Amino acid sequence: MFGWFKKKDKVIDFGVYEIEDFLDESECAHLVNLIKKKKTPSAVASSTGSQYTAHRTSSTCYFDDGDKIIDQINNKISKELEIDQEFGEPLQGQYYQVGQEFKAHNDFFHADTYDQYCSESGNRTWTLMVYLNDVVKGGSTDFPSKGISIQPKRGKAVLWNNLHDDGRPDTSTLHAGTPIIEGEKYIITKWFRELPFTSDFNPNAVSNKVTKPEFSFGRTDITHFSQLKKFFKKGFLKLEVPPLYFNSIKEVYDEVKNSFVNEYEPGDKLGLGYHISSNQYKVATEISFFSEADQISLLTGIQEFVEDEVQSALRPTFCYGFRSYKNGSVFTLHRDRLQTHIISVTICIDQNVEKPWALNIKNHQGKMESVFLNPGEMCIYESARLEHGRLDRLKGEFYRTLFLHYVPID
Ligand SMILES: [Fe+2]
Ligand SMILES: [Fe+2]
Repeated sequence: MFGWFKKKDKVIDFGVYEIEDFLDESECAHLVNLIKKKKTPSAVASSTGSQYTAHRTSSTCYFDDGDKIIDQINNKISKELEIDQEFGEPLQGQYYQVGQEFKAHNDFFHADTYDQYCSESGNRTWTLMVYLNDVVKGGSTDFPSKGISIQPKRGKAVLWNNLHDDGRPDTSTLHAGTPIIEGEKYIITKWFRELPFTSDFNPNAVSNKVTKPEFSFGRTDITHFSQLKKFFKKGFLKLEVPPLYFNSIKEVYDEVKNSFVNEYEPGDKLGLGYHISSNQYKVATEISFFSEADQISLLTGIQEFVEDEVQSALRPTFCYGFRSYKNGSVFTLHRDRLQTHIISVTICIDQNVEKPWALNIKNHQGKMESVFLNPGEMCIYESARLEHGRLDRLKGEFYRTLFLHYVPID
């Protein structure tokens, strides 16, 4: 649907890439020396915590902060994959002697360990490993489901995404480090996550965990927002509203545009007033409701158009009235409800502003985006999965939108 990583030196098989001489001789030598000094037996993540098992018989180490060459290598990896460094787990070194191996496994976390290891950062996405020396015999990296076997070679990187584009684990990435027959093997491995790896980088981030019952109602299968399917590369799309459809919105709007009322009580600090506020007014937003028949016709009127964009059948769930944000409004970062707001559409209806006012969406790559919508423009976005809000204050008399919400039919 949306490939986002295509330009590798050599594609061995769909989804596994290798890059010759990714690290040079001196970088490899530096890493080998550090691993020699710091290695301890490797652990395997399990539901009862890290365990030392026969499944993985190598030695592992992490590197100290502040090593300039490690920093450079982390940078290089992050650039190559076009993923921000904050999504990366710490670089890990591994050492295998004769007879040692890492039996077939997947790098993504399975359901039984998801809660323990993926609560904050989501699952593992890309793996990038680099061979730091030539192995005399054995020690290949095998992908049994793909029928490929990669021979170690000093400086060569091997990389693959452990998840499908839509976020589901890709079981065909099963792989093994086969036993060393002669010689030894030094490698480094870098894993990336769906979200920044630790909360230290962004203490204000909204938790990935679904904690409020009203958000998870009816969706007990989803315990973390990052488990939701992805529909777009970035998680949203800005489009022109089909003109005929926009005309029908305007007809409804013209009937109710003089009947806006406060959307919440002054002093509300728990409901909507918790998220939306203005430094000019006690109540930041007004709402103008319209008939249920009009709500249904607006929801269904654009449904097919939205279905084409997300490539999924949808069930319309919710259409709110027209919301009018007043001068000085801000909307804090939040996620929408899982049971009704998986795919949302925001349409700009009318505005009287001194400068364009952005809808902010933190995309699937963790970058905060600014989406500017003029009347007649819309944004389709994955509103339950992605944090969004309006972070800059509105400068102007009003900004008016219509919201439509859908859930995909699996
Ligand atoms: Fe692995
Ligand atoms: Fe929202």
